[in-house]
Amino acid sequence: MVLVALAMAGAVVATGALVRWDEKREEDAAFEDLALEQSRLSRAVAAGVQARLEYARRVASLEGDHVPSDGSFFEVRDRAEPSGEGARRATASGPTTLTFEVARGAGRSRDVVVSLPALLDQVSTIERPGEVVLLVHPPGEARLLTVDGREAATTHVDEALETSAASIRLDRAEATALGLPARAAFAGLSRFDAGSFGHWSIAVVASASRERTRESRSRLRLVATSVSAGALVFLLGWLNLRRREKEADFAKELALVELQRRLDERLVRANRVAMMGTFATGVAHEISTPLGVIVGKAEILESKLKDDERGVKATRAILEQADRIRGVVRGFLNLARGGDPVKERLDPADLVRSATNLVQHRFEKAGVSLSAEPGEVRPPIFCDKRLLEHALVNLLLNACQACERGGHVTVEIGQAQDRVEIVVKDDGTGIAEEDAARAIEPFFTTKSADQGTGLGLAITNEIVKAHRGALRIEPNEPIGTKVTISVPSVVERSEK
Ligand SMILES: Nc1ncnc2c1ncn2[C@@H]1O[C@H](COP(=O)(O)OP(=O)(O)OP(=O)(O)O)[C@@H](O)[C@H]1O
Ligand SMILES: [Mg+2]
Repeated sequence: MVLVALAMAGAVVATGALVRWDEKREEDAAFEDLALEQSRLSRAVAAGVQARLEYARRVASLEGDHVPSDGSFFEVRDRAEPSGEGARRATASGPTTLTFEVARGAGRSRDVVVSLPALLDQVSTIERPGEVVLLVHPPGEARLLTVDGREAATTHVDEALETSAASIRLDRAEATALGLPARAAFAGLSRFDAGSFGHWSIAVVASASRERTRESRSRLRLVATSVSAGALVFLLGWLNLRRREKEADFAKELALVELQRRLDERLVRANRVAMMGTFATGVAHEISTPLGVIVGKAEILESKLKDDERGVKATRAILEQADRIRGVVRGFLNLARGGDPVKERLDPADLVRSATNLVQHRFEKAGVSLSAEPGEVRPPIFCDKRLLEHALVNLLLNACQACERGGHVTVEIGQAQDRVEIVVKDDGTGIAEEDAARAIEPFFTTKSADQGTGLGLAITNEIVKAHRGALRIEPNEPIGTKVTISVPSVVERSEK
């Protein structure tokens, strides 16, 4: 979540920076335009002033004693002696006037008295209070003058006029000194040579307040846009987060319901197992009576069939199997009462042999091959032969049932540290991971009711546990299933 928030904040900041960069570019372009405009304006003003001075010069150089006096911005006066001083300023009284000496040939000259405000009277219409100021630098003056002849405090512009710059930027202080708003300003600069009237300079200074205002508005817009975009992004992020939280809550609830359902299922199954345990104990108990009768009658038969070899063999088989049933049932009843199995020292190969013998006919019938590889080094184990044999039979029957006709089942005996492992492998259907995890649960079966009860592995697991062993069910490579019974070997047991 923190990463997502950071990414969103980053996106907002990046967008803001991009917009700001664009605004800055626009603003620079606007300033550039403003400077260019002032430069053009100053050139136009300069051309106007130069034309008027040229007119005055021509009038002053006319032949004859009576010179037509324009009366609008200059006055011509005859001089007795040419002074050769050029331009002079006289501010003694009234509006600012400038006196220039214009040669008329033959060593004679006339004075032309120019009124600065009158000279600039037409061009000064470009001035706008608080926006545009016109400044003029007539020859012989130390500083720039305003149109009404006051000295303007613009050191920066004075200096720039010494160079060939067409425009310059003025800071707030200089703009304020010229009576402009406290914003940046731009001055367009022009210079011209008016011959007898000397070198003149013109500066048109315009405030960038409009651009500045526009800029601050756009900055405000930018801030507002960024803030609202940020708010929107975070709102969407928050809504998304809420939705995810709700989904997570819902998933948690579902998981809880599922857990509850599984617990309920287990409880029901545990009850059933407990009930079935009691029931099985009862059945085992009930079996012992008819089994006793079967054994008794078989013994009578055996003594009567002394001379009939086949008859004796058959009765012996009945007695053997009855004995086996009795052994298994006793073993179960013992385990059900919580007792330890009655153990004997045994070669695991004997166990494998007797178990495979017991199921041989089932494999033949199913067309599945069964081979046992007892291995070379086999430490003995301590076990209840009947019970462990029964456990192995369950594994072999499962393997056989999982195989198609033509399938293969092998039993291997191996050793892992101080344990003996009896491994049953088949190349049958294989087992899904979740089925393997549940296979030892009582009544878990994937078979139809007439094929299986789901008790085989549950009983096998109990028997193996009673021998301090473990049962492992896993997929066999490349196909089929591998089930391992691992029990302590005698060496380990005797050492303990
Ligand atoms: N070798 C195997 N290959 C594939 N699946 C197996 C194998 N052994 C056990 N299983 C799976 O485990 C389930 C439980 O086996 P278990 O022996 O406990 O019960 P069952 O064989 O179904 O019935 P029964 O009580 O008759 O043994 C089986 O239904 C089957 O799905
Ligand atoms: Mg089974």
